[in-house]
Amino acid sequence: MSPFQLTRTLPEDATGAALREDVLHGLTRTPKELPPKWFYDARGSELFERITRLPEYYPTRAEREILIARSAEIAAASGARTLVELGSGSSEKTRYLLDAMPDLESYVPVDVSESALRGAGRALLEERPGLRIHALIADFTEGLALPVTPGPRLVVFLGGTIGNLLPAERALFLRSVRALLGPGDALLLGTDLVKDEGVLVRAYDDRAGVTAEFNKNVLNVLARELGADADPEDFDHVALWDREHEWIEMRLRARRAVTVKIPELDVVVPFHEGEELRTEVSAKFRQEGVRAELADAGMELSRWWTDARGRFALSLATVAPAAL
Ligand code: SAH
Ligand code: AVI
Repeated sequence: MSPFQLTRTLPEDATGAALREDVLHGLTRTPKELPPKWFYDARGSELFERITRLPEYYPTRAEREILIARSAEIAAASGARTLVELGSGSSEKTRYLLDAMPDLESYVPVDVSESALRGAGRALLEERPGLRIHALIADFTEGLALPVTPGPRLVVFLGGTIGNLLPAERALFLRSVRALLGPGDALLLGTDLVKDEGVLVRAYDDRAGVTAEFNKNVLNVLARELGADADPEDFDHVALWDREHEWIEMRLRARRAVTVKIPELDVVVPFHEGEELRTEVSAKFRQEGVRAELADAGMELSRWWTDARGRFALSLATVAPAAL
């Protein structure tokens, strides 16, 4: 068998159909919203990689610091022969785990972005020729069917991407992750932590404007996939801290009254001046909250590590004995 396999678990048009449904539902309601997974075409994935190198965007560096310090411990605690990574992107930080797991047999990166999976696969094949890589183009919120690979499994979800799900979506998602785990398997979960509002807002509104470009990229996706004529110049990037929900929201705010035509859906979407479209939430966490959400999904928090400045956390969780 080839050491790199790429499987699309969704039917060819599933992505298009899901985008049409999200756009129809999200742009014809008030307030307008779209799920953040639509940022990640090839350009969006590239822009995200640039974000991870920005001076203001601390989460990637903080999580990397934890992985450098703790990968050996994580590897020893899990004893995994298969590493499954949800929302794997470039798999860049995953290298620390892979290096600490010389006996790992299979790596299963899962992402909606085919370009990210192919790029990561190419690089990893050179670095780890003995590793079997079974990449899945899939939506991790849609109930995953994983390939048959040797256990134990370590499922990792890095970057704080869990914060991009709304609370109800998160609860469903964590239950579906729990269903992937058997005795001896574990989940490694990255969560960004609640901190000073100024630090948070700057991380999502950088001086170089890369996050603004990333945010507006969703308009390019709508133009290419659905023929929408929204002009990115007509919208401002907005990042704000919602103190009640403890999450950052990214929005696109119309600079003037704008009418966006979406011929593929046969709809016209009016924006009044100042009207906003929510494109992302990025929730920030506290240890008690992570523990409680894991417990609600039938998992037990067994280890909690943070970077030296307490900005970001990695949690190791296993199936709670009562849920086995
Ligand atoms: N884990 C990497 C990348 C984080 S960016 C890191 O920590 O740096 C978020 C990644 O999740 C992107 O690659 C994006 O394409 C993917 N993603 C977002 N929503 C997704 C979904 N619903 N299903 C699968 N992948 C998704
Ligand atoms: C992928 N995810 C965890 C990023 C975040 O921080 O919520 C996406 C992002 N949005 C703006 N900047 C980065």
